[in-house]
Amino acid sequence: MPKTTISVIKADVGSFPGHSRTHPKLIEKAAQMLKAERGKLLIDSFVTHCGDDLELIMTHNRGVDNKEIHKLAWNVFLECTKIAKDLKLYGAGQDLLADAFAGNIRGMGPGVAEMEFDERSSDPVLIFMADKTEPGAWNFYLYKIFADPFNTPGLIIDPALHDGFVFEVHDLVKKRKVRFSCPKEIYSMLAYIGAPSRYVIKHVYKKDGVIAAATSTQRLNMIAGRYVGKDDPVMIVRAQCGFPSMGEVIEPFTTPVLVAGWMRGSHHGPFMPVGLCDANCTRFDGPPRVICFGFQVSNGALIGPADMFDDPGFDRVRVRCNELADTLRAQGPFEPHRLSLEEMEYTTLPLVEKALEKRWEDIAE
Ligand code: F6R
Ligand code: MG
Ligand code: MG
Repeated sequence: MPKTTISVIKADVGSFPGHSRTHPKLIEKAAQMLKAERGKLLIDSFVTHCGDDLELIMTHNRGVDNKEIHKLAWNVFLECTKIAKDLKLYGAGQDLLADAFAGNIRGMGPGVAEMEFDERSSDPVLIFMADKTEPGAWNFYLYKIFADPFNTPGLIIDPALHDGFVFEVHDLVKKRKVRFSCPKEIYSMLAYIGAPSRYVIKHVYKKDGVIAAATSTQRLNMIAGRYVGKDDPVMIVRAQCGFPSMGEVIEPFTTPVLVAGWMRGSHHGPFMPVGLCDANCTRFDGPPRVICFGFQVSNGALIGPADMFDDPGFDRVRVRCNELADTLRAQGPFEPHRLSLEEMEYTTLPLVEKALEKRWEDIAE
């Protein structure tokens, strides 16, 4: 049995109204194009959206970073951009930062999370898709899922989890990576991942090297060298039988966590778990939100999805997120609702400051 690869590749190629949601015509086009590859490049596929981001979920046997798979995703985004331009959707083609496909879609704008594994006798997979935030948003949740026994009792009572997990952390500024073996090194790891704008968890592995989770870590502004909206990351997590259970994986999302993004990619806001019917950004272009689709992967076929946050069990966190949103919004343009000056470097604020630069006079000591 060949290994199965899951590739989740996403881009914002236009939305309506403003940066709110993807148009159904884009989803339809993408779904058709991927279905046409079934039995050829792909085993299976599913297309959805979170806010203004078009999400391509694909399974195949070609491994991660496969040129043909990435090219297919790029072509889907190009075709959808044509429709977005015809409809004059907002931000048509916004995340396609390169003129032509260059062999690997990483570094060209779209976000990519991929993993390859030997299928178990039954293989549940959860796919998280976010809008109006950045890749480091997953740090808190991955820590809770794979390293916190107060969230994941399996770390204590299941011998298959008791050894803990290895986290691969990327430094997005210095473009370097490091692995932390947890629980032994959780304090060292937290020294970094507590700063999610720079340090992001890219992969989580079992101690024997088997992949457990993968995230997208593309930062649009770092690729483009200018502000082009937030990166709106995706994440793949395997569950059950040697991994945290499905319920242990989604439990951390009952905590209202503040993330960077929201309006103009410049504000902290609560990260709200929602069902697909609520995966549309409205209030203050947000709040930042996340959907989770659950599948059983069966010889590469995607059995599902189950809309995991479409559950009254998540109603209370949604209420608490709205309360936090009210508290933060009352602060208007003041930090810490607005991001720190260092993070604002990646927004349009420096352009405003440049125009005001000559007005400043030195203060005599
Ligand atoms: C956030 C986002 C929106 C826009 C805002 C202004 O990621 O995409 O909040 O930043 O709507 O958009 P423009 O500058 O296109 O008018
Ligand atoms: Mg947009
Ligand atoms: Mg978006």
